[in-house]
Amino acid sequence: MTSTGMIGLSASDLVAQLSISQKVALCLGADNWRTAPVPEAGIESVMVSDGPHGLRKQPGEFLAPGLPATCFPTASALGSCWDAALVREVGAALGAEARAQDVAVILGPGANIKRSPLCGRNFEYFSEDPCLAGQLAAAMVDGIQSQHVGACVKHFAANNQETDRLRVSAELDERTLREIYLSVFERVVSTARPWVVMSAYNKINGEYAWRNRWLLTEVLRDEWGFDGVVMSDWGSVQDRVAALAAGLDLEMPPNFGISDRAVTEAIANGTLAESVLDEAVARVVRLVLRSRDRRPAELDAAAHHALARRAAAASIVLLKNDAGALPLSDEPGLTVAVIGEFARRPSYQGVGSSAVTPLHVDVPLDELARALPSATIRFSPGYPLGHSEADKEAAGTLADEALRAAEGADVIIMVFGLPPGSEVEHIDRSHIDLPAAQTDLLRRLAGNENATPVVAVLFNGSVIRTSTWDDCTSAVLECWLAGQAAGSALADVLTGIVNPSGRLAETIPLRLEDAPSYLNFPGEEGHVRYGEGVFVGYRGYDAAARSIAYPFGHGLSYTQFEYRGLTVSTDGAGGLAVTCTVANIGGRAGHEVVQLYVGDLKSRVRRPPRELKAFSRIYLEPGIAREISFTVTARDLSYWSPSRGRWVLEPGEFRVDVGASSRDIRLAQHITIESPGSS
Ligand code: BGC
Repeated sequence: MTSTGMIGLSASDLVAQLSISQKVALCLGADNWRTAPVPEAGIESVMVSDGPHGLRKQPGEFLAPGLPATCFPTASALGSCWDAALVREVGAALGAEARAQDVAVILGPGANIKRSPLCGRNFEYFSEDPCLAGQLAAAMVDGIQSQHVGACVKHFAANNQETDRLRVSAELDERTLREIYLSVFERVVSTARPWVVMSAYNKINGEYAWRNRWLLTEVLRDEWGFDGVVMSDWGSVQDRVAALAAGLDLEMPPNFGISDRAVTEAIANGTLAESVLDEAVARVVRLVLRSRDRRPAELDAAAHHALARRAAAASIVLLKNDAGALPLSDEPGLTVAVIGEFARRPSYQGVGSSAVTPLHVDVPLDELARALPSATIRFSPGYPLGHSEADKEAAGTLADEALRAAEGADVIIMVFGLPPGSEVEHIDRSHIDLPAAQTDLLRRLAGNENATPVVAVLFNGSVIRTSTWDDCTSAVLECWLAGQAAGSALADVLTGIVNPSGRLAETIPLRLEDAPSYLNFPGEEGHVRYGEGVFVGYRGYDAAARSIAYPFGHGLSYTQFEYRGLTVSTDGAGGLAVTCTVANIGGRAGHEVVQLYVGDLKSRVRRPPRELKAFSRIYLEPGIAREISFTVTARDLSYWSPSRGRWVLEPGEFRVDVGASSRDIRLAQHITIESPGSS
């Protein structure tokens, strides 16, 4: 039968017509990026490509750069926009690029939690908080799949470090796993229904994720209703028979037929039921059938660049703005000293499988000059990017030149960043400091005779320590690794074309040693103990009443917002209905991110003082107020009880906090939940 003749058949009809060897072949990649075709049965191969912040379609060999594509902001940046609608738009644009390049599945988003500031792939992940990460990852999936392109949520699960990433066993209790690490995936699976989930390399409590039946079948499929394909991470599977039995459908990439032979033998000798293989094949075939709805598209590079710019600008976090140092206004006679190599060689993405070949890169220095046409811009690189002996020797001269360039300027924009190669898949960081050449220069610049204000601009995908140099600055902008349009987005925020509205998706600690996971990261001898339990990120800093540099949820605006009128009522189903009013009381239009946290005041188990349960990003013109409503479900108020094997809602008093960050609570109210129950 021809492939056209097969189009009307369902996945299970097709499976029924396949031989064992065809079925076995379908569950293994045909090459690095394609599923296996079965032409005789009219089943074509489909292509998958990284992900997550731009397409990396590789024309040839495995390590070759991808074909040019829009490099959108990485998740480190998008996590800070707290805007699911915007992330959905980025997802839809990614899907459209996949259509233009004939790609069926994008390997993203990454839904892992930022457990430690040191994880080398933090730039690919959204947040330390599962509610925020889950909502944004679900929005990304929804956007991608709106284009009839599949999303592949990764890396399932407890994949929170790069050290020993292929083997390490993440050791954690079920409550921690459920409440923090699985709940992101659960939200994505149950609300956005991704076509594919990628299993992780690591073990969880001693069992590899790719052969973990409890994880892949009992939780993912039976509990959450996942109906798509479970795909392996690249080269992770060491025993495909065990993987299939656990619920893994597709091994990637191929391995010279070794695992095909093992599966064929296991079916012949009865150690693997053919029905297990059939189910996996049906899911792979269904993926192929779903992909047939995809239509080719023309890539609209200009529109996608504009979206990348808008998303990057919405993700920039104004950490500090003393005495209204920002925004800058374009005036004749204004002299701006722009210091820092990153101003002309921007850092906008990390290294590894996610690296995109950008279609175009906006240079911050050029964009700033364009945005301030009347001003005089003086540039000096200030520091070397490398750390060779020659670089070290050059550092002194570069710093002296920078001081001269800054002399007499009205404002100094110091552009910082993590050096190339600091944020890499496979490698965790060992510290969270900026290079000394950069911070030393900042100290010297800040010591200028005229007390010229210094605005620090940061380009980094993982959190960096600010407490050692913060006092030298008047304003600090955290731009993250914000994709190819980071330069123009920065100019938009510096000049006030965009009023900043980014909010931290992770806490900036005073010191690495304060991080809740510090003593347990990255583990030793093949094990990493998640000893901090559910007290990840702000949950841990708050529980220990630890001082931090900038809290989770923090971010300033060029306007001010006032909160009032909190109402909290029970909804009769164990949940809460919450309303409050937020007003823009400043002089500029802007977005506020209203955050709702909940804490159980007395509990049988130790619970974080407050946990994010909902948020809303709203736009307000000056002088305008708006009422906002939130719903908190019984499940949101529950904890996972390992002894009872379910979510448990304890009756009693809860506190509802509404605020502008986890440590800037503007309104609070206690409420009693009467009815015991579970969700
Ligand atoms: C990474 C995945 C990626 C895959 C394909 C793996 O090493 O962990 O995130 O999608 O390679 O490039």
